Amino acid sequence: MHSLQCVLQVQRSLKWGPLVTVSSLLLRTCRAHSSLPSTANPSRERQENGIQDFSSRLATGPTFQHFLRSASAPQEKPSSPEAEDPPPYLTEEELLGRQRKVYLETYGCQMNVNDTEIAWSILQKSGYLRTNNVQEADVILLVTCSIREKAEQTIWNRLHQLKTLKTKRLRSRTPLRIGILGCMAERLKEEILNREKLVDLLAGPDAYRDLPRLLAIAESGQQAANVLLSLDETYADVLPVQTSPSATSAFVSIMRGCNNMCSYCIVPFTRGRERSRPVASILEEVRKLSDQGLKEVTLLGQNVNSFRDNSEVQFNNAVSTKLSRGFTTNYKTKQGGLRFSHLLDQVSRIDPEMRIRFTSPHPKDFPDEVLQLIHERDNICKQIHLPAQSGSSRVLEAMRRGYSREAYVELVHHIRESIPGVCLSSDFIAGFCGETEEDHLQTVSLLREVQYNTGFLFAYSMREKTRAYHRLKDDVPEEVKLRRLEELITVFREEALKANKTSVDCTQLVLVEGLSKRSVTDLCGRNDGNLKVIFPDAEMEDDINPGLKVRAQPGDYVLVKITSASSQTLKGHALCKTTLKGSLTHC
Ligand code: 5AD
Ligand code: SF4
Repeated sequence: MHSLQCVLQVQRSLKWGPLVTVSSLLLRTCRAHSSLPSTANPSRERQENGIQDFSSRLATGPTFQHFLRSASAPQEKPSSPEAEDPPPYLTEEELLGRQRKVYLETYGCQMNVNDTEIAWSILQKSGYLRTNNVQEADVILLVTCSIREKAEQTIWNRLHQLKTLKTKRLRSRTPLRIGILGCMAERLKEEILNREKLVDLLAGPDAYRDLPRLLAIAESGQQAANVLLSLDETYADVLPVQTSPSATSAFVSIMRGCNNMCSYCIVPFTRGRERSRPVASILEEVRKLSDQGLKEVTLLGQNVNSFRDNSEVQFNNAVSTKLSRGFTTNYKTKQGGLRFSHLLDQVSRIDPEMRIRFTSPHPKDFPDEVLQLIHERDNICKQIHLPAQSGSSRVLEAMRRGYSREAYVELVHHIRESIPGVCLSSDFIAGFCGETEEDHLQTVSLLREVQYNTGFLFAYSMREKTRAYHRLKDDVPEEVKLRRLEELITVFREEALKANKTSVDCTQLVLVEGLSKRSVTDLCGRNDGNLKVIFPDAEMEDDINPGLKVRAQPGDYVLVKITSASSQTLKGHALCKTTLKGSLTHC
């Protein structure tokens, strides 16, 4: 029944819904009745025949009975293929990539980078090849972001460029197919297909498993879409394919979606409700990464520290949820489940030489057990992202953040007491609805008071569907937003410089990433606080093999004496190659 409801939901919102949904319902049948010959690389003629065949199968389309039959649950497996529904719409063969080349382009946040790896993992299994050359691609997929107007504008501009590529494509080649994946597909749905006729497929953030089917429909010349959001999709069993196999670090998605409904934010609408991946599957992925020799894992999610694994009944008698002091939620507090502190504890025990980070957390979910664990465990980095958004309690209330400036500042003090030397970063929005000059100055003063090491600052961009769009007025003029943003950036930089200068003359453990982008004679890595550290690529003592001189390689831990600092980078010189454990005796 559930699938029928979902189908009707799509039909209501998409004019061409039936084409898409019918094939979805009949997929089970198609597998048993494949009528197309199997082929590794079909010729154009064969492909056209396939399209005609596909179209005629669509023309004789399903009846209402098909819907009823497919939707009545529970379904018993037919005892013989003859008992199944004719006619098939997509054969197993049509679902295969048949070595077509996919070019993937990622926009936006780290979640999108991870989603790209998930989408690619699914397509690779389906027989697609990946290309880094857009000119040789058969399929171009853009993994998109909707968080601000500017992010979407970038995608529209890119689509216009791709239009030229598509129309110029030689007739002798298979037609180029273009797809929009992720948040923009979810937010704009059929508007994209209507506005940009060249877009062949849309897949929302919870629909990547459906990509082979959507591509098969697109291949036949139809537009295809799946923008259904899920309550439980976490892609737990899809192992993301790391884009750069030589990388020293990886991101591991632990939860998806967001229930917070901050009034300015589109994310709950594009990525859906909060759901967590089972702990066991996360641990398995981290173990694999450790076996591959990776030295750093960042646990990833829209609200990582709201993690709650409810996948097994016995997890649900756990203790009640504790929020940071002075913080509230916009939703009814949930109880039970395995929480973030449990996961962090388990993940950090896998490999003591593997650094653990997490992003992006919400300030409301920092109970003492999480802070204590970060303090105690050597391989959990002493770095916390604490998105404040504004320094004015009045604006925070309009944003529905669930805390006041005072509660936030108290949390900062508590974190600093619990984890001495912790590095803090934050997000801020300039020019939110109703923000006065006084509110803005409060944000400036919060930046001065906290003195963050890293900051992400944005001008407010009104998004349709959000609470702010419906209830508030976007009344700060654009030039004022930009002026305030500039002021915030200047103050942030001044304070970050002061904060970073306290590292000068200290010895820090750096995980080497590779050559510096600016100079081939320098190496680049990150300290525990996630700040970039640049140092000359020179021979050094090897702590692990005393007496030996070595050059540091990506993935090595190196002790670096810091000699200078800017607002974004530290510079120094290497003392020795070491291990994470070994470094503790040095410092
Ligand atoms: N306008 C500007 N910035 C926004 N963010 C989220 N929504 C908006 C918006 N509508 C910022 C917040 C969030 C970060 C990921 O993006 O600061 O923490
Ligand atoms: Fe958006 Fe707020 Fe959720 Fe972050 S916590 S994703 S800002 S709604």
